[in-house]
Amino acid sequence: MIRNSTFRLWTMLILISCACSSPKPSNEMNAKINDLMTQMTLEEKIGQMNLYNGFWEVTGPVPQEGAAADKYQHLKQGYVGAMLNIHGVENVRQLQELAVNESRLGIPLLFGYDVIHGYKTLAPIPLAEAASWDLEAIQQSARVAAIEASAAGINWTFAPMMDISRDARWGRVMEGGGEDPYLGSKIAVARVRGFQGDDLSAVNTIAACAKHFAGYGFAEAGRDYNTVDIGTSTLYNMVLPPFKAAVDGGVRTVMNSFNVLNGIPATGNTLLQRDILKRSWGFDGFVVSDWASGNEMITHGFARDYSHVAELAANSGSDMDMESYAYVKHLKALVDSGKVDISVIDDAVRRILKVKFELGLFDDPYKYCDPDREKDLIYHEDHQKAVLDMAKKSMVLLKNETKLLPLSKEQQKIAVIGALANDKNSPLGSWRISSDDNTAVSVLEGLLSYTDQVTYIKGAELVTAETTFRHEAPINEIDKSGFGEAVTLAGKSDVVVMVLGEHGFQSGEGRSRTRLDLPGVQQELLEAVYEANQNIILVLMNGRPLAIPWAAENIPTILETWQLGSQSGNAIAQVLFGDYNPSGKLPMTFPRSVGQVPIFYNHFSTGRPDATEMVFWSHYMDESNSPLYPFGHGLSYTTFNYSDLTVEVTGSAEVDVQVAVTNSGQVAGEEVAQVYIRDVVASVVRPVKELKAFKKFSLDPGQSQTLEFKLTEKELGYYDNEGKFIIEPGKFEIMVGTSSVEGLTGEFVL
Ligand code: GLC
Repeated sequence: MIRNSTFRLWTMLILISCACSSPKPSNEMNAKINDLMTQMTLEEKIGQMNLYNGFWEVTGPVPQEGAAADKYQHLKQGYVGAMLNIHGVENVRQLQELAVNESRLGIPLLFGYDVIHGYKTLAPIPLAEAASWDLEAIQQSARVAAIEASAAGINWTFAPMMDISRDARWGRVMEGGGEDPYLGSKIAVARVRGFQGDDLSAVNTIAACAKHFAGYGFAEAGRDYNTVDIGTSTLYNMVLPPFKAAVDGGVRTVMNSFNVLNGIPATGNTLLQRDILKRSWGFDGFVVSDWASGNEMITHGFARDYSHVAELAANSGSDMDMESYAYVKHLKALVDSGKVDISVIDDAVRRILKVKFELGLFDDPYKYCDPDREKDLIYHEDHQKAVLDMAKKSMVLLKNETKLLPLSKEQQKIAVIGALANDKNSPLGSWRISSDDNTAVSVLEGLLSYTDQVTYIKGAELVTAETTFRHEAPINEIDKSGFGEAVTLAGKSDVVVMVLGEHGFQSGEGRSRTRLDLPGVQQELLEAVYEANQNIILVLMNGRPLAIPWAAENIPTILETWQLGSQSGNAIAQVLFGDYNPSGKLPMTFPRSVGQVPIFYNHFSTGRPDATEMVFWSHYMDESNSPLYPFGHGLSYTTFNYSDLTVEVTGSAEVDVQVAVTNSGQVAGEEVAQVYIRDVVASVVRPVKELKAFKKFSLDPGQSQTLEFKLTEKELGYYDNEGKFIIEPGKFEIMVGTSSVEGLTGEFVL
């Protein structure tokens, strides 16, 4: 039980926090917000903090009883601030009219939706986009998603997800930017800019949402929704940087997360939401909870009951309650009793109203409800071109030992094997709740657009039944009856394209795996086909890093295509036939075995990193420490040569780096030059390598380019165990090259 004096101190701290971090809108907007708030009752203010999911056909009969009826009444009473999972101009207009015309003050609604990698025209999954290291393309991809979503009435997306993760067992790695905070930060900003554009009041821009704040990607054992218990150094140096970058980049909303962080649920976490996000970083948008994450604080053992949920969540800085019903049912009594100060409510409501003003919703609540835009923009051909470009840039050539790629366009007999080769759903990936099924260009369709010398045999089913966004895919673990004809086809073909990997819904939320091998009977199919023909091009289609040591050892060519969205097959065909030279680099380490996980490049040294003849060093008895494919790895159809690395310290915390890169091959290509440093001695040990700069550029055969990088305090410093950013003099190592394990090395002293 909190003693009164402590409680009073706590409330005072919250008041200070609200005052310090209360948003600083423009004077005119501030005046409008003030004016509106003076008119609002406490119930109406609390209503703005209430986010409901729509679960009735809005254009259908009005719900007469149950939760849907309550929601309908609350909409009319002005007790709802936003809706989620409502889309389509007609549906949105219906609800907006209800809120604006029926409620006393007519405050317009936000309409939030998970526009994660596209609305109808689907881009590659975010992890694939991260593999492009092409920030402009990533921004453009989010721009296209925003244009289509805004045309469907949506003005707020629950994206970008920016959870750093090192654990491929976690199904949501498909949704993020990989394992590195520097790359993850750059991608987060690019996606926020794509969604929000330069003018949030424009009809084709929508509010973005940095999620999940924070630490969700460090769920223990890679099991979704599991406990997160990490040190301050990991929190500040690995987890928080993308969120800080997104806040500095102007993201308007932040979503907290399901997990506890070091024993405190994120939704009730004052350190995260008030101390760091709002006070230290000055975030002036609003925080929304994740789906019922408020109520889950009871299950966590942090809240006594729903009233306590509302008290803890509101006081800790969770401004809007998604589907817990805790605020709408309990906040008024909590304010009346003094357990939640009205200043907490006012701060939250200001933040929410500010975003609505910025979106232009008070000027025109129906601006996103134009049926002509919806008809003209959804599936627009320009959007197909944009996602095709993004898809081509997202692929990673892992291996091409015997140069089977690019395929010759001369006539040759090409066998195409694998259920995923003819699958028009899985390439769409997970987190596509607005998309239309079976709308991806399949690999087979893409290849047939190049040549009719293609023969397709499935070989084996991947799943035994189709599945949906809400359920897992039942995997075929036993039926090998199709192997025979696949092997026969392979034996009489010049080259075999095998498309293997995961079903589109084998990754994503709630889809953690304890194994990272090829699901079902695919590995056996691969080995059976290999016996008949070793000229195999393995095309991987998956939502997470996979452990494929046999393939890495035996298959001459491996192309990682992830799940590339609507234009998947066309993009893959263009790469296979060399019309696009693959340029992607891994944003996440591929393990040799799941036993190595979590495995990541920016690890600490340990005190015993080096092999000795005795067992007393950091290793496994049954597996190498090294990854199968390292962070930053990716080949090309050409080769790049690095030379003339120069490193010059030009200030107390400023280093100029130069390197020359030459295209030493026969075809034009794009390269991602990566800059890694190591702070060799620090008050808190630093990783053996940290990405601190990169550039993606293209070179013609024989062409050279000198690249320049500048490292400043921001790149050279780190957060200590008190969360303080420091930079310390001393020796640094540096490596500039084509991956996290290959490049020119040097050192400098600050
Ligand atoms: C989900 C996800 C979150 C999503 C929200 C609304 O459970 O965790 O990322 O935005 O609910 O769909």
